[in-house]
Amino acid sequence: MYKIVSAIFLAENIKKIEIEAPRIAKKRNAGQFVMIRVGESGERVPLTIADSDPEKGTITIIVQGMGKTTKELNSKEAGDMISDVVGPLGAPSHIEKFGTAVSIGGGVGTAIAYPTAVALKKAGNYVITINGARSKDLVILEKEMKEVSDEAYITTDDGSWGFHGFVTQKLQELIDSGKTIDYVLAIGPIPMMRAIAEVTRPYHIKTVVSLNPIMVDGTGMCGGCRVTVDNQTKFACVDGPEFDAHLVDFKNLSDRNKLYLLEEKQSSDTHVHVCKLNKTV
Ligand code: NAD
Ligand code: FES
Repeated sequence: MYKIVSAIFLAENIKKIEIEAPRIAKKRNAGQFVMIRVGESGERVPLTIADSDPEKGTITIIVQGMGKTTKELNSKEAGDMISDVVGPLGAPSHIEKFGTAVSIGGGVGTAIAYPTAVALKKAGNYVITINGARSKDLVILEKEMKEVSDEAYITTDDGSWGFHGFVTQKLQELIDSGKTIDYVLAIGPIPMMRAIAEVTRPYHIKTVVSLNPIMVDGTGMCGGCRVTVDNQTKFACVDGPEFDAHLVDFKNLSDRNKLYLLEEKQSSDTHVHVCKLNKTV
């Protein structure tokens, strides 16, 4: 069992949860994730590690309550226990001194863009962050992103905070201003990552996205998380989750992620665990 040390809402439906997991806290690198099972009979969900404190022996995850399990997780408070936390899983982010690196987080994807921005800064890059949300009340990690950035931008779809528009428009504005950009990391909803790839493609800017396919075991065994990259099948849990954005088949990813909407709804409605493995395999 793993103890929740603190749990606070950052925005409506988005919770920051710190969990006691000393071995994971020591080993994890930016870009890696954990598989979490809230209760003994629950499903496993992959969640990227947003932060860790090796001294304290804790990891932090940021959870958007979307399906049955993430909503259950978000109902937990400090002192509560959860059944399993397995990790760190996945390949760490590829970090080097690129030059000027832009880390883009869309919505809750900012929770993943943040640790990579920290690692990029540590490696000596000039770091620009773009933190996008639908409206001001949904902006998360604003202070943290600002602290790690040489330049930090907030965008909101409705213009209630920062730049009025999508993260893609802010990125295009930076490119149009003549700024040399050597590397872009984009994490958020699939349409956003696909749109970022199209913004940078004509300029041949190296662009990486973190993919979020359905995962079952998280260890390369079940094939549930397969994605198509450069016309080849890859398993996001072991080959990724980060891939070259210009080579990802986003349509295939989007179609596969829609396969289980009915089961997810049934599970939420009936509070019965519906196994995704049978259909996946
Ligand atoms: P959202 O829909 O509010 O979008 C966040 C921002 O992304 C927007 O403010 C906008 O700037 C940008 N964006 C969205 N659609 C765009 C488009 N078509 N073109 C250009 N920019 C666009 O985000 P949300 O509700 O927080 O996101 C939830 C989704 O993100 C879920 O589907 C979740 O599965 C996914 N997600 C993905 C990852 C990952 O690893 N890739 C991590 C966490 C969440
Ligand atoms: Fe990646 Fe099973 S979740 S192979």
